[in-house]
Amino acid sequence: MPGETTTRTQVVVIGAGPAGLLLAHLLAADGVESVVVESRSEEYVAARIRAGILEQSTVDLLRGSGLGDRLEREGDQHHGIYLQWPQERHHVDFVSLTGRSVWVYGQTEVQKDLVAAAQARGQVVHYEVSDTALHDLESDRPSVTFTDASGAARRVEADVVVGCDGSFGPSRGAVPESLRQTWEKVYPYSWLGVLADVAPSTDELIYAWHPDGFAMHSMRSATVSRLYLQVPNDTPVDDWSDDRIWDALSTRLGHGQDGWTLTPGPITEKSVLPMRSFVQTPMRHGRLFLAGDAAHIVPPTGAKGLNLAVADVGLLSPALVALLRRGDEGPTAAYSDTALRRVWRCTHFSWWMTTMLHTSEDPFDAELQLSQLRWVTSSEAGTTGLAENYAGLPIGF
Ligand code: FAD
Ligand code: DHB
Repeated sequence: MPGETTTRTQVVVIGAGPAGLLLAHLLAADGVESVVVESRSEEYVAARIRAGILEQSTVDLLRGSGLGDRLEREGDQHHGIYLQWPQERHHVDFVSLTGRSVWVYGQTEVQKDLVAAAQARGQVVHYEVSDTALHDLESDRPSVTFTDASGAARRVEADVVVGCDGSFGPSRGAVPESLRQTWEKVYPYSWLGVLADVAPSTDELIYAWHPDGFAMHSMRSATVSRLYLQVPNDTPVDDWSDDRIWDALSTRLGHGQDGWTLTPGPITEKSVLPMRSFVQTPMRHGRLFLAGDAAHIVPPTGAKGLNLAVADVGLLSPALVALLRRGDEGPTAAYSDTALRRVWRCTHFSWWMTTMLHTSEDPFDAELQLSQLRWVTSSEAGTTGLAENYAGLPIGF
């Protein structure tokens, strides 16, 4: 393109979300240079309220790569969750069952830590780009073109392109249609998520089945609660006043049950999140690799989305280092198949948690769900299976 500025690096990463910035961080630690391009502003990406739970292997990886300091100080280690339905609440203790635990540490905090580390090492990140396009992926000189924030046309040539551009980015579609396969399931309900300036009313997360619909009590800190309600698809946020939200949460979470109370507080953020499962294979085409939401989406029940993105990158980074520093193609050749084992495990677990806890109009389904919940919470095999999957399998699973 006339007037285009061309630069060169080893890896172009598309997307500065958790997958993209963590990959750039891990590569830099092993002496591999990268350039990150991101369509949004740094502030926008950092402010998105999304996931809240980090599983054991995510925490291990963040600690092991020098990103664990604030997590250590401000994150909150949780030993399990509560599963409940009307008149019953059961604690599932991950630590006693599997020796693994989870941490409450929001995606916004992980993102802040990644941005701070990127700034400290002088990482090149082009924010607010447009027209991102991928080229020559089947050659050993792929490139990415884009218009930068000042309106200038740019091309970055590299050895490898990694698509970490989430569910709406262009990378997934750059795999030729004839070579890719996709699976998708759209669920007939959404989550209304709220953030509230009130101390959590629970020590650990509560996942609640209720005839009116699923509800969840999570948290972000000692003074901020995160709560979710199952709502029909296409529900306008404005249908839900703060009072209506707190009433529904009280009913579904069991305010008054065995003396437990839900304390309401000022709601500071409200949004509706549709739910779907999606997988695209393979996660590699030529010199393009996909990681995180660019390759797969899970419904949020089970808290796997962010953790899966981290696990992909945890596999991909050493594989790219082997390729680019030692000319060893083995680990990159194995990346897609290895990553997909875990992707499908988490896809199943997220689907299983979702379909066990969200109510439909069907009374037969409701009886099966309650039967499943009774079994999961009373059998050591059932509880251990949930704990193993929730607290997370090792990265290489
Ligand atoms: P993303 O975080 O989506 O990052 C992709 C980046 O690519 C974005 O910054 C995007 O702006 C950028 N990009 C897109 N297109 C382009 C382009 N053309 N050029 C350059 N850059 C581009 N998971 C949970 O576990 N629990 C939750 O409660 C939860 N809640 C969620 C709520 C919402 C509204 C959403 C959307 C997701 C939620 N998730 C949750 C999922 C979790 O946040 C994601 O799995 C996680 O963000 C994946 O990280 P990622 O880096 O792969 O993708
Ligand atoms: C949160 C989100 C989840 O999807 C989940 O399963 C647990 C916690 C959260 O936002 O805190």
